[in-house]
Amino acid sequence: MLKPLDYVSQIKPYVPGKPVSELERELGISNSVKLASNENPLGPSRKVVKAIKEFLKNPSEIGRYPDGGGYYLRTALSKAISRKNIPLTIDNFILGNGSNELIDIAVRTYMTHGDEAVMANPSFVVYSMAVRSVGANAIEIPLKDDFSHDLIKMSKAITKNTKMVFVSNPNNPTGTINKKDEFRRFMTDVPDDVLVVVDEAYYEYVTDKDYPDTLKYLAKGRNILILRTFSKAYGLAGLRIGYGISKPEIITEMNKIREPFNTNTPSQICALTALKDKAHLKKSIKLNEEGKVYMYSELDALGIKYIPSQTNFIYIMLQSSSFDLYNALLKEGVIIRPVGPKEIRVTIGLKEENQRFIDALKKVGIK
Ligand SMILES: Cc1ncc(COP(=O)(O)O)c(C=O)c1O
Repeated sequence: MLKPLDYVSQIKPYVPGKPVSELERELGISNSVKLASNENPLGPSRKVVKAIKEFLKNPSEIGRYPDGGGYYLRTALSKAISRKNIPLTIDNFILGNGSNELIDIAVRTYMTHGDEAVMANPSFVVYSMAVRSVGANAIEIPLKDDFSHDLIKMSKAITKNTKMVFVSNPNNPTGTINKKDEFRRFMTDVPDDVLVVVDEAYYEYVTDKDYPDTLKYLAKGRNILILRTFSKAYGLAGLRIGYGISKPEIITEMNKIREPFNTNTPSQICALTALKDKAHLKKSIKLNEEGKVYMYSELDALGIKYIPSQTNFIYIMLQSSSFDLYNALLKEGVIIRPVGPKEIRVTIGLKEENQRFIDALKKVGIK
């Protein structure tokens, strides 16, 4: 009998949500709003839509493999992100089919059976899935009372078997950040033979002035991999493109594992266009800030607890079952994500989508 590897069969699968159209069909509803996956409710900018239409006018490009090295996008990223005191080149960058793929590539580059990676819990579920997929162990350290990573306990959990530490900053699903000082101390405590993976998927949304500047650690020669994405603030989640920033030595090793054509031509073209469209990014961030203010005031008025967020989603703590609320909201055409027995995560949407969520919350009466 064909048997999967023991450590693979032990992985809890990621449960994807049903397509919205299918949910609507099953429930006999229409016009539902999806506030479940932290996408930008504005989607891509008009310039990006124009760029992908231009691409489609040239069918010969569809028949050709993409530029596997992502030359133009990596060059543009290096120019956009470099600073006078932190010069970066194309060799500091790697592209991924979403930043998700880069988590997997990093794990497969540096970890094997019996190794350990330290991470927070709850945090982005893909870290532990990636680590377990190579037969390594995920060492999960509970968040602090303020729902941010317990960086002191995480550094103490490092053993001679530890190859990697994951810091989701901001953290998904809590929307919290770890600040400069604690991150500085953490970097002092982490030994140099451990790769620090800092996942900054929500980087563009952060407003806290105490957010760590991780590029400084790269400039100091530390073994750090910074992950960012075009899926969130840039509105390109469906195209699947993200990037990693690290030392050239680390990027070179990761490239050996990377599937040669992992990012496709339209995603590279759209990311390049999105990167230059500062106005759309600004508009997206402003909409998010306004949405948060509205959600906070409504949740306060309802007496519902939540954690102030540095992202485009809010972690809400209920007094009753999150699954009951999820199902009740679904019938109202509002899709959110239960992330714990009494916890939900709600993406900030368009103004009218946020209102739909609040109205539905009031109507179903579950807190
Ligand atoms: C913390 C975090 N990291 C990474 C990702 C993956 O993003 P993508 O693969 O779309 O770049 C997500 C997506 O939800 C996330 O929340």
